Amino acid sequence: MILIIDFGSQFNQLIARRVREHQVYCQIIPPAMLTEEYIREVKPEGIILSGGPSSIYGQDSPKVNPFIFNGEVPVLGICYGLQFMVHALGGKVQRSEKREYGFAELSISTHSDLFQGIDQKTQCWMSHGDSISELPKGFTITASTDNTRVAAASNPEKNLYGLQFHPEVDHTLMGREILSNFLFRICSCKQNWTMKSFAQNTIEDIRKTIGDKKAILGLSGGVDSSVAALLIHKAIGKNLTCIYVDNGLMRKNESKILKETLTRHLDMNIRFVNAADDFLTPLKDVTDPEKKRKIIGNVFINVFDKEASRIKDAEFLGQGTLYPDIIESQSAFGGPSDVIKSHHNVGGLPENMKLKLVEPLKYLFKDEVRQLGAEIGLPDDLVWRQPFPGPGLGIRIMGAITRERLDVLREADAVLLDEIKKAGYYKKVWQSFAVLLPIKSVGVMGDQRTYENTIVIRAVTSKDAMTADWAKLPYEVLGRISNRIINEVNGVNRVTYDITSKPPGTIEWE
Ligand code: XMP
Repeated sequence: MILIIDFGSQFNQLIARRVREHQVYCQIIPPAMLTEEYIREVKPEGIILSGGPSSIYGQDSPKVNPFIFNGEVPVLGICYGLQFMVHALGGKVQRSEKREYGFAELSISTHSDLFQGIDQKTQCWMSHGDSISELPKGFTITASTDNTRVAAASNPEKNLYGLQFHPEVDHTLMGREILSNFLFRICSCKQNWTMKSFAQNTIEDIRKTIGDKKAILGLSGGVDSSVAALLIHKAIGKNLTCIYVDNGLMRKNESKILKETLTRHLDMNIRFVNAADDFLTPLKDVTDPEKKRKIIGNVFINVFDKEASRIKDAEFLGQGTLYPDIIESQSAFGGPSDVIKSHHNVGGLPENMKLKLVEPLKYLFKDEVRQLGAEIGLPDDLVWRQPFPGPGLGIRIMGAITRERLDVLREADAVLLDEIKKAGYYKKVWQSFAVLLPIKSVGVMGDQRTYENTIVIRAVTSKDAMTADWAKLPYEVLGRISNRIINEVNGVNRVTYDITSKPPGTIEWE
């Protein structure tokens, strides 16, 4: 395994992704967690010091204990990581107010192990302010750019390597090969991080942790909670009870399909709670999006808690927390004490239920969760399900929510998804859905004047929902969706396509 020390770089998750793409397991940890004891415990094959926004001369700049430079475990410093290494070992880092940012041509002067198989001239990507003016004893420059004399340096005797540029971003053309050289030539890592081995080990671990005790889990139908549920189910069988709350704001047939696949086919123990009335009654006449969210959130907690407290002697709570949540909640500058603040997806549980958390996906990225789901036999429909917001269709009906309007939106949404799937776009877009507007417009159907609802088609591409672009769906697909909605869904006579990106728009309409 490789330890990545988080000095606060925005690219840390990318470093981890790259390492794992080489089928090598890695963890991102805050600097203060890197103690001799921790190294003895986890026995990493190598350490990567990440970049970061700080200057090593800054007052609160993040630091690690320099014992890691003793040569026992290979170290690769990236950007700030290299500067920290140089400074700690007696070299000089020059302060600079000006940043070097963007592409640069890298000239490799020494084909050290890190640069094996890489062209002498190649493109790299820089993002730094300070630069190195003097290397510590034992180091040599291995690559330069026009503006940066020390673009790479190493001391192979001590297993120390450094890059001023970022090998983890795609703009560094040979970045993957450089990281591969570090992992395999320098650290002698083995390619044994596969979802098969992860699944086996995790199921075994869960079995050991939970033993013959009972666990509960809030199932939303999304890929994360479904994969977490199936893993725990494989470990402890019927001692896991999943709770699925149908809030009346789900899409067409959603609860039915979930029941079919998870209960019937995978034999999981799931309590389906039909709580539509509990949600729709307090939502009556509510039009403000934030009020809707608050009501839906509060009712959810009440319904979930009530159901959970019926499961006597449960000691564990399973959750589908993912690695990005964990990374975001650990601090580059903090100590081990504020490392992991779990994200509670299911709100506050009753005070008297002191449940211990089981989060089997907490070291996985979203795409790894999908691979894992497929590996352990989760049906394709669930593995590839697009994200769906907790408040469901409630925030896709503009204005007040009624059962009638829910039915209209549900039917229109089902048609839209059907056509998107048929056209092969379901996995290509991040989300695709229908929105019901609170206005009516005039139309003509047959010989009759109509005055009916408007549906908006929303489809976006995105990597992480932070930014998104409207999907360039073919006109024919849009045409088919529009035709079918107007023909098949009573109460709709107009369909429009939303061509707003995020920012300035958001993905959802409320
Ligand atoms: P926006 O609309 O903010 O959405 O661009 C970004 C992503 O978050 C989802 N979303 C929610 N998910 N509860 C959720 O669980 C919510 O209240 C909520 N609002 C938005 C949205 O579907 C998109 O994937």
